[in-house]
Amino acid sequence: MFDKQLQVIVLAAGKGTRMYSSKPKVLHGLAGKPLVQHVIDSAKALSAESISLVYGHGGEQVKNMLKDEELIWCEQKEQLGTGHAVQQAIEKIKDSSNVLILYGDVPLLSKETLEGLLEAKGKESIALLTANLENPTGYGRIVRNANDIVEKIVEEKDASETIREITEVNSGVMAVDGDKLKLWLSKIGNNNAQGEYYLTDLIELAVKEGETVNSFIVEDNKEIEGINNKIQLADLEREYQKRQAMILMTKGVTLRDPNRFDLRGQVEVGQDVSIDINVILEGQCVIGNNVHIAANTILKDAVIGDNVEILENCIIEKSTVSNGCNIGPFARLRPDTQLDENAKVGNFVEIKKSHIAKGSKVNHLSYIGDTEMGENVNIGAGTITCNYDGAYKHLTKIGDNAFIGSNTALVAPIEIGHGATIGAGSTLNKDAEADKLTFSRAPQKKIEGWKRPTKIK
Ligand code: UD1
Ligand code: CA
Repeated sequence: MFDKQLQVIVLAAGKGTRMYSSKPKVLHGLAGKPLVQHVIDSAKALSAESISLVYGHGGEQVKNMLKDEELIWCEQKEQLGTGHAVQQAIEKIKDSSNVLILYGDVPLLSKETLEGLLEAKGKESIALLTANLENPTGYGRIVRNANDIVEKIVEEKDASETIREITEVNSGVMAVDGDKLKLWLSKIGNNNAQGEYYLTDLIELAVKEGETVNSFIVEDNKEIEGINNKIQLADLEREYQKRQAMILMTKGVTLRDPNRFDLRGQVEVGQDVSIDINVILEGQCVIGNNVHIAANTILKDAVIGDNVEILENCIIEKSTVSNGCNIGPFARLRPDTQLDENAKVGNFVEIKKSHIAKGSKVNHLSYIGDTEMGENVNIGAGTITCNYDGAYKHLTKIGDNAFIGSNTALVAPIEIGHGATIGAGSTLNKDAEADKLTFSRAPQKKIEGWKRPTKIK
C-alpha cells in the first residue's frame, strides 16, 4: 500500500487569534511539546520522505523552535485559505509522491489513523479522513452520492440548512497524488462565502474528472480536534494524558488516579511501580522495579533504580537514584546528583552536583553542593556546604564513615577525612583529619547570680 514515496505538508500559518498570545498557536505546548512538534513526530513515524511546513505568523519563533528538524520551510505571507497554503509548498512536491496534508494545530492524530487513511486511498488518487460528530458545527460537511461515494465538501459558511444537518465532517487531513494535487490546486478559485482558496474544492474537481474519492472514518473523534483557544488546549492535554496513563496502567503501573497524572516526555518503567496523585514526569525518565512515588512529586530526566521510595513533594532533576534509596518528603535533587545504593535524603534537603556514596544519610534541613561524599556518612541536621565564595564554586570532600554534627558549615574547598567526627555547630574552613574529633565552637559560659529581667507593675 505504501509503494509510493510519502511527502507530508503541515499547514501552520494560522495566527491563532483566540489564543491571545505573542506566541504563534502551533508553538503552544501539549504534554511539554509544541503542538506542531506532535504533528511532525507523526509524520516522522510514517517515515515521510520530506516534511514541508507552511508557516506565516511568528515565523522566526517557529523556525527557532524547530531548528533541529529537517523541514522544508514554506512561507505563506498572507493567509488566503487552506488551498493557498498548500500551494506555497507545491514546488518541492514530486508528481509520483503520495502527499499527506496535516494541520499543525491538530496534535492527537495517531500513526494508526494516518496509516488507515493511506490504506483507504489505495490506488485511487485522493482520500479524505472524515469523522461523524454529534455536533458538526464549524466543520466542512461531507456530501455523499446515492452510492455513498464522496461527492464534495461544503464549508459551513457556504452550506444550506439541509447540508448543515449532515454530521459527517471533513477532518482537514487528506492524502492525494502529487501530480493530481498540482493539477487541481491550479484550478481552484476563491468564489465563496469567505473569499478564500479552499483546499476542500479539490474534491469536487476530482469527482468532475471521474475520480473516486475514498475516505477513512476516524474511530476516536478527539484525534481530529484542532486547537483554537486555551479551553481546547486544556481539553486535549487531559485527553493526551489519559491515553498515556492508560498505556502505563496496561503495562502494570499503579496510578492512584489517572486523571491526576502527567507525563511530559517519555518514561521507561519496571514492575510494581506505584504512583500517587499529582506526580509529573518530564523529559526522559527511567523508573526501576518496586518503586513507590508519593503525591506531588516531580521527576525530570531522572533515573530511579529498584526498591526506591520517594515520599511526598520531592523534585528530582537530571539525577540518578540507585537501588534502595529513600527520598523525601520535601527533598530537592538538582542536576548532576548521584545517590548510590541505600542512600537516604530526608526532608528539606537540597543536593546539587554531588555524589553521595552507599548508605550515606542526609536526613534533615541541609544543603549539599559540589560534594564528593563517601559511604555511610551521617550528615546532621542543618549542615551546609559553603560551596560558593561569591566568584567561584569549590569542592567539599567527605570520607567514608564521617559523622558531621548538626548545624555545621563546611567552607569549601575542604576535605573531611574518613571516620572524622565534626562537633555540632562548627564552622570549618580547614581540612579535618581522619578518625579525629574536630570542632570549632565558642566556649560555653555560665554567669553566676544572673537574673532574668522582670517588669515592674
Ligand atoms: C478547514 C476545512 C474544513 C474542515 C476543518 C477541520 C477548508 C476550506 N476547510 O476549515 O472543511 O472541516 O478545517 O478543522 O480547508 N491555514 C494556513 N493558511 C491559511 C489557512 C489555514 O496555514 O491560509 C492552516 C491553519 O493554521 C490551520 C489549518 O490550516 O492549521 C486549518 O485552517 P482553519 O482556518 O482552521 O480551517 P477551517 O476554516 O476551520
Ligand atoms: Ca479550524
